[in-house]
Amino acid sequence: MRRPSLLCALPCLLLPACAPAGTTVVRPADTATAGAKGVGDPLFPAMGNGGYQVEHYGLSLTYEPKDGGITATAEIGARTDRALSSFSLDFHGLQVDGATIDGTPATVARTGDALRLTPAKELAADTAFTAVVTYHGAPETLTDPDGSQEGWLKTPDGAVALGEPNGSMAWFPGNHHPSDKAAYDLTVSVPEGMTAVSNGELSKQQTANGRTSFTWHTAEPMASYLATVAIGSFTLDRTAAGTVPQTVAIHTAQAQRAADVPSWVAAVTDWGARLFGPYPFSSTGATIGSGPSIDYALETQTRPYFNHAPDEISLVHEIAHQWFGDSVTPGSWQDMWLNEGFATYAEWLWQEQHAGPTAADTFAEYYALPKTDDLWSFPPAKPPSAEDVSGDPVYYRGAMTLHRLRETVGDATFSTILRTWTTDHRHGNVRTTDFTDLCTKVAGKDLAPLFQKWLYTSGKPTTP
Ligand code: TRP
Ligand code: ZN
Repeated sequence: MRRPSLLCALPCLLLPACAPAGTTVVRPADTATAGAKGVGDPLFPAMGNGGYQVEHYGLSLTYEPKDGGITATAEIGARTDRALSSFSLDFHGLQVDGATIDGTPATVARTGDALRLTPAKELAADTAFTAVVTYHGAPETLTDPDGSQEGWLKTPDGAVALGEPNGSMAWFPGNHHPSDKAAYDLTVSVPEGMTAVSNGELSKQQTANGRTSFTWHTAEPMASYLATVAIGSFTLDRTAAGTVPQTVAIHTAQAQRAADVPSWVAAVTDWGARLFGPYPFSSTGATIGSGPSIDYALETQTRPYFNHAPDEISLVHEIAHQWFGDSVTPGSWQDMWLNEGFATYAEWLWQEQHAGPTAADTFAEYYALPKTDDLWSFPPAKPPSAEDVSGDPVYYRGAMTLHRLRETVGDATFSTILRTWTTDHRHGNVRTTDFTDLCTKVAGKDLAPLFQKWLYTSGKPTTP
């Protein structure tokens, strides 16, 4: 289901398993060692963990509106990359009540946001295991490196969990790096009358003793930053107006303003499928909240989250992410332009095809910005720090790169490139060089100068 680990594309200092062929590895491969803390992401060194890959998260949360707390169990089905004496999970705040590995109690140690589990018996290489962590408490809101809020956010009548780049550790322990994607089943129990919304399809809904539990199933691999839960007064709209099954969760306070959203979701999903290739997931949709004062939307898988009814263009951006970011996922946070540059260019294409400015007009508007503008503060494929992964160059200069590519190779080849990209890397992880190599191959010409100029060179290019 998943492509092989991309960890080897990242610096391998902490990962003896990644030593290139021919290098002398001192330890025999079957000697169990502690799994690394961090996967070596240059911008987020603490995120993710070495030694294993998660295949499935089974999360079960009981939400208590009185104090906003949760009581939860995370069942993590994973596979070792190598023999492990212990391993880490990323986890923030909440109180851990216990942990088992394959049914046997494990030793728990916490340092900062690392939760280290030591099994009673070492785990062999290339072996499936199940870790279960039980925990409770009031999940926290985190401030991410660019200053915006993520993690667990309170809303007027509930909460919403948003995890880009590292907020998911505020509500469940996991391998919180986009290079480790997994399937999910999430059950949330709420007082009867409230609704809990998550990714994928609602597979079960049950009311007993004044509480309702909602179970959501995500079969396709999902990066943990795309996992979400929204709790409150929502209605689930399943008007299937397009070719992909859809569920739009609309907060009752937004019912009027969001009236058009279900038909837009259908139209935009089908538009994307025509342009980018088959829609990558078994359902589409959106969640329209009423609330927390965040100033962004998030492309939570299959069901992008908006804190109020979106306009059409924001919907285009977040639904385009389902191909670019959610299905084809960067293996490193440095490569965020593969998400944001593409989703932004999707907006330009939508406008061009719907009586708006042409992509060339939009490109020209950005290119006209003075060289002192933030747009030119760093090259899109080389964000210098964690806070820059959501910076202007990642979005707009990333989109400009795609526009220059399109002008250079022509519309037909550009379209083939996009469709080959989403097909070859469907549900996988990628790096920028995967994209530039693919472009060169499909176009049959040397595009290195174009990418060098637009993706890697500091400052405003002197010519478009
Ligand atoms: N991905 C969001 C969007 O579609 C924006 C965003 C929120 C973001 N948090 C982030 C981007 C962290 C990069 C890093 O626009
Ligand atoms: Zn985006």
